[in-house]
Amino acid sequence: MSKALRYLGAVRPEAATHLLSFYKHSVKALDEKTRCLIQIVTKVSVGTERGLRQYAPKALKAGASKEEILDAVMMAFPAAGLNKMLDAIEVLIDLDLLPEAPGSTKETGDNRLGSMADFPLNKMACVHKPDGDLIVFRTGPETARVYLSRCPHSKTTLCKGVNHGDRVECRMHNWVFDLASGRCLGPDPEGKPGLIEVKVKVEGGQLVRVG
Ligand code: FES
Repeated sequence: MSKALRYLGAVRPEAATHLLSFYKHSVKALDEKTRCLIQIVTKVSVGTERGLRQYAPKALKAGASKEEILDAVMMAFPAAGLNKMLDAIEVLIDLDLLPEAPGSTKETGDNRLGSMADFPLNKMACVHKPDGDLIVFRTGPETARVYLSRCPHSKTTLCKGVNHGDRVECRMHNWVFDLASGRCLGPDPEGKPGLIEVKVKVEGGQLVRVG
């Protein structure tokens, strides 16, 4: 249950009781995978990125393939229109929940993010790439965590946020993210999504994106 529904249930129980009961009892015959795929269609249709981030990983966990998730997104097209559908695809590409595009290369020279020696230890650094900025947080001589710079709340780039070294604060609504874990530290962090991590490896002293 979302934080907003829990909140309504607590402060407006008379109004929220029927709604909460509806959510609890309306789905009886559908299995979890089907339910999650239908949820993806509705989340794309209404354009809620948060809902999509919630239900797409659930669908995969419930046994849906990435092809089925893509089908669900495309089924939303008549109600959602092109822009919402493309926005959803962008979110799911970031989450690595869509089938890989034919001919996509994962380890080309373009995936090099820089020399490990150039990244400060336990401090935020930004790398600008044609397909979007990345945040690099080096944690040791051969280890680093790398995240999309895109704030998971909306689409602001965190590379333009406030750099607190081991934390970054979004300028838009002041969410703060821990760069060692990617978790949202607040304000009021419960249920808030964390940073989207990018897979990397170190090769010959170079940090290389692999996913
Ligand atoms: S867009 Fe970053 S906190 Fe809202």
